[in-house]
Amino acid sequence: MDNKELIKLAIEARKHAYCPYSNFAVGAALLCKNGKVYTGCNIENAAFTPGNCAERTAIFKAVSEGDVSFEKIAIAGSPKGDDITGPAHPCGVCRQVMQEFVNPAEFKIVVAYDNENYKEYTLKDLFPEGFGPDNL
Ligand code: THU
Repeated sequence: MDNKELIKLAIEARKHAYCPYSNFAVGAALLCKNGKVYTGCNIENAAFTPGNCAERTAIFKAVSEGDVSFEKIAIAGSPKGDDITGPAHPCGVCRQVMQEFVNPAEFKIVVAYDNENYKEYTLKDLFPEGFGPDNL
């Protein structure tokens, strides 16, 4: 699946974002090495700290279904509204969660800038010298 298709799925997932506190809606689409895609949105909470990012929602859905081999993730985030108006790069916690499951030099992070344009990184680009299972 190419990056634009994966971004489309992230934009679809973004429609389910539950973000009444930040009004910042994020969708993510995670492509597994077996071809399956898991999507996720951010889910906020009145108590604030229990909120979850779109990326982790997608990753946890995959892991909970037995899929732990990931190829890439697309992220589409912007203030609430139909259009993607700027990039949302993954937060530090999400980068750490990715690090647990992937080869950082190979796993791709596709960040949408609008409905057409994106930038692609590896996890290693965005999270150099991360701490992972190999360090233990
Ligand atoms: N958020 C994500 O879901 N993913 C990101 O990449 C950045 C931030 C969420 C967390 C919170 O619900 C809202 O966006 C504002 O920070």
